[in-house]
Amino acid sequence: MDGRAVAAEIKDGLKSRVQSMKEKGVEPLLATILVGNDQASKLYVGNKHKAAQEVGISSQNHELPANTDEQTLTLLLEELNNDRRVNGILLQMPLPSALDAMKMIEKINPQKDVDGLTSANMGRLFYNQASLVPCTPLGIMTLLHRYNVRIKGSNAVIINRSSLVGKPLLHLLLAEDATVTSCHSKTTDIPRITSHADIIVSAVGRRPQFVVTADMVKEGATVIDVAMNRINGGWVGDVDFAQVSKKASHITPVPGGVGPMTIAMLLENTVRATAMQRGADQ
Ligand SMILES: NC(=O)c1ccc[n+]([C@@H]2O[C@H](COP(=O)([O-])OP(=O)(O)OC[C@H]3O[C@@H](n4cnc5c(N)ncnc54)[C@H](OP(=O)(O)O)[C@@H]3O)[C@@H](O)[C@H]2O)c1
Repeated sequence: MDGRAVAAEIKDGLKSRVQSMKEKGVEPLLATILVGNDQASKLYVGNKHKAAQEVGISSQNHELPANTDEQTLTLLLEELNNDRRVNGILLQMPLPSALDAMKMIEKINPQKDVDGLTSANMGRLFYNQASLVPCTPLGIMTLLHRYNVRIKGSNAVIINRSSLVGKPLLHLLLAEDATVTSCHSKTTDIPRITSHADIIVSAVGRRPQFVVTADMVKEGATVIDVAMNRINGGWVGDVDFAQVSKKASHITPVPGGVGPMTIAMLLENTVRATAMQRGADQ
C-alpha cells in the first residue's frame, strides 16, 4: 500500500478545496506548539508545516522552551482558542515530563482539536459521532478504504493500546463491523492471535525486541505497520517486510506507508475544522 501516493491524491483534493474556501474569503490556519528541543519532534512539526504550505493552508509555529510551566502553556492555548483566525491547534507530543499532557490537551477547544485527542472528540468517537478523529487511525482507515480491504466481518488485530493509535482505531474498525482484538505488552501469545487475523495493525516501536515475523501472519492478510524504529541511522517498522510481504495481500512500507497518511489527515482535519467553525461545509 503506497501511503505516499494516496496522501498525494488527498493533498491534491485538499488543494482545490482550500482554493475554493479562499475564494469565499476563508483562510484555513493551523497553529502548532512545540515545547522543548526534541529533534524528532522538530522534524515532525517542520514536515507538517511544509505539507500545509503545499495545499495552501497557512500555518504558524509557537516554540516554547523545555522548562515552560503549565500556566504559560495554558495562556498560549487560550490565546489560540480565542483567536478567530486560528482554525486548528496541534500540541506536538511528547511534552516535557513536568507537564501533564492530558491536562494540557483538555485546554484545546474541541472544535480546533485537529489531532482529535480531547476527551470531547474521543467521546464522540465512542458514540460513532466523530467529527475530528486522531490522524494516524484516520489515515489507516483511509488506506484500507482506498485499497478496498474488506473490513466488515473481518478479524482485525491491533498491537497497541495507546490513545494516539490503538484505542481510536479499535472504535473505527468496530464501527465498520470488524471483530477487533487489542494486544499490548501484557498480552500472552501474540503470534497465536495474529495468525488468525485478516487485518494486522502493529504500532509497538520496540525493535528488535518486538518484530512481526512471517509465521505470525496468515496467507492473504493485510498488514499495516505504524511503528517508526530508528535503526542504523534509518527508519524501519515493526514488520519483517521482506518475509511478510511474500504472504500478505496488502502491506504498508516504512517509511512511505502510514507516516504520509497521518500528515494528510492532519490537513484534512484542519480543513474540516475550518468548515465546522464557519457553520457550513465550505
Ligand atoms: N507513522 C506515524 O504517523 C506514527 C504515528 C504515531 C505513532 N507512530 C509510531 O507508532 C509506534 C507507537 O506509538 P505510540 O505513541 O502509540 O507508542 P506507545 O504509547 O509507546 O505505545 C506502544 C504500544 O505497544 C505496546 N507494546 C510495547 N511493547 C510490546 C511488546 N513487547 N509486545 C506487544 N505490545 C507491546 C504497548 O503496550 P502497553 O500499553 O502495555 O504499554 C503500547 O500499547 C511508535 O513507533 C511511533 O513512532 C507512528
